[in-house]
Amino acid sequence: MAIGVFDSGVGGLTVHRALVERLPTADFVYLGDQANAPYGGRGGEEIVDLTRAGCERLFDAGCNLVVLACNTASGIALRRLQQTWLPGFREALGRPVNILGIIVPTIEAATGLPWEHEAERRGEKVEKLDILAVFSTPATARSRVYEIEIDKRRQDVAVFSEPCPQLARMIEDGAGAVELAKVVEDHVGAITTRIGRPPDRAILGCTHYEIIADIFRAALPAGTPLIHQPDATADALQRYLERHPEYEPGSSGLRRFLTTGRPGAQHKLVETFWGGPLSFEQA
Ligand code: DGL
Repeated sequence: MAIGVFDSGVGGLTVHRALVERLPTADFVYLGDQANAPYGGRGGEEIVDLTRAGCERLFDAGCNLVVLACNTASGIALRRLQQTWLPGFREALGRPVNILGIIVPTIEAATGLPWEHEAERRGEKVEKLDILAVFSTPATARSRVYEIEIDKRRQDVAVFSEPCPQLARMIEDGAGAVELAKVVEDHVGAITTRIGRPPDRAILGCTHYEIIADIFRAALPAGTPLIHQPDATADALQRYLERHPEYEPGSSGLRRFLTTGRPGAQHKLVETFWGGPLSFEQA
C-alpha cells in the first residue's frame, strides 16, 4: 500500500519531499485540495469536512496511512477525525488505515521532549525564557495548539503566534519574491514589536511557508534557528512505521501527485522549490 500526503495545496510538498528522501523506495500519493485552498481562513467544521474528504480520496487511491502535511488540518481536524470518523470508516473498509499529523512531531522537535511528556508544574520561577515565534494561518493561530501543547511540556518556552492571512494564498498563486518579502517582513516586524525583541527561534507553522523559507530567514535576525517541520515529520513517520509493520508502505517507489483543482504543471515558485517541473493529475 502507499503513504498518502495531504495538504490544501502545494505546501505539503515540503513535507512530501522530506518523507520521500527518508523512505526512497516507499510508494507515495500526494493530494492537494487546490479547489478549496486556502484552508486558513475557513471555519472549523469546513476544515474537518474537507480534510475527511481528502483522506477518503487517498484511502480510495490505495493508501493505508495519510500524513496531514498541513498544520491547519492537523490542528483543527485530526483529533476529531481520529475519534469520530476513522474507527467506523476503518471497519467498513476492512483494513487498517490511519491518519498522522505534523504538529506532534513539530512540538517534539521544538521542546526536545516526546509527546507523552507533560511537565509537572511546581511553581518555581523560570529565569530565562526561550521565545518561540510561530508563523501560521489564522485558523492554526486561533486554535492556539502550539501555545497550549508547548506550555504543557516546557514552561521556559514562551510561544507567540503570528497569523499571516494572505501568505498561503499568495504562495498557492505563485506570487513574486519582492511581494512575498514585503508581507513576510511586515509579519516579522509585527511579532517583534509584540514580543519587544526578536524571537529566539521560529516555527514556519504552515507548510506553504517552507517553500519561501529563505525569505523568512532573510527577514528574521541572521542565524535565528527555524525548527524544520518536514524533517521532524520524517523522523516521526519512520519511527511510526517501525512500530507498526501492518502499515507497510510499498516498495516500488511510486510517486503520484493529485489535485482537486486544475491539473497540469505547477507555477514557477513551486518548480524552483521542487528543483524541476512538477505536474499534478486530476484527483
Ligand atoms: N499548508 C497549510 C498549513 O500548513 C494550509 C494553508 C492554507 O490552506 O491556508 O497550514
